[in-house]
Amino acid sequence: MDPNAREMLHVTDADRRALRLPWSVLLASKAAEMRTKASGRRFVGQGMIGADAATVAHGFGAFDDDAFAAYNLPQRWVERRQIPAAIDGRIPAHGAVVLDLGCGPGTSTEVLCHFADPSWTIIGYDLTERFVARAEERAQAGGFANRDGTIIRPHFVCQSIAEPLFARGERLADGSVDLAISGGVVGLYLRAPDVERLVAELNRVVRPGGFIALDAGPAVPVRALRRIATGAGFVLTGNARSFLIEPRPKLVFKRAEATDCP
Ligand SMILES: C[S@@+](CC[C@H](N)C(=O)[O-])C[C@H]1O[C@@H](n2cnc3c(N)ncnc32)[C@H](O)[C@@H]1O
Repeated sequence: MDPNAREMLHVTDADRRALRLPWSVLLASKAAEMRTKASGRRFVGQGMIGADAATVAHGFGAFDDDAFAAYNLPQRWVERRQIPAAIDGRIPAHGAVVLDLGCGPGTSTEVLCHFADPSWTIIGYDLTERFVARAEERAQAGGFANRDGTIIRPHFVCQSIAEPLFARGERLADGSVDLAISGGVVGLYLRAPDVERLVAELNRVVRPGGFIALDAGPAVPVRALRRIATGAGFVLTGNARSFLIEPRPKLVFKRAEATDCP
């Protein structure tokens, strides 16, 4: 065994049980959405999927906390199943550097924190100022914890993930990141040219042997996302679904190491 090899994180059944929200929560949310549509009313957030960047930014900026929580509930349900599947065995158990791309008010970050220890660096990015402020407030108040109840303190940055990635006012360093992950963002609210810019930046900041796990969806379907990431040199290593026939999986790609065969 390589003495320099880092211990990798493994997700347990207890983790999965602790994180999962029941199906009834998802079904109730979907039923409420269908009732709103059937009654001819617009539900908050309607028309943002696949829209241009200005419409997306305006749409998310208009949410209050309760409206966003209701809109995002299906996504929250999905993340609590997809994130464990995406990260299992792929990131170091200690000292991991993880980017949460499009983190909202910390709804996906809290799932990453479940697996973290205080040696991790977790940076959440979101373009909606209000969400970043909420996430920051929560972090300051000690509102993120890991599976043992230890407080985890992620950082948050307000910026578009289609732009070069910054933290503490400086561009992220080359090869400094173990995992970059997105949920309910890339496949819904970005367009292919934005994803190409994002993937090029991730190809710079993710270390060789590190991973990116990006969500596919109607705006950037599986084939398009695969083409963009493999075109940039990433290698597809799997996909993470919240249930067997889920149409919006996260595709998991590895940044090739010098030792990997072509
Ligand atoms: C459906 S929410 C998902 C939030 C979180 N990832 C989760 O799973 O609960 C989508 C988030 O993506 C953010 N977003 C959309 N386009 C973005 C962009 N170009 N850059 C950064 N964040 C973006 C929105 O502000 C919103 O918080």
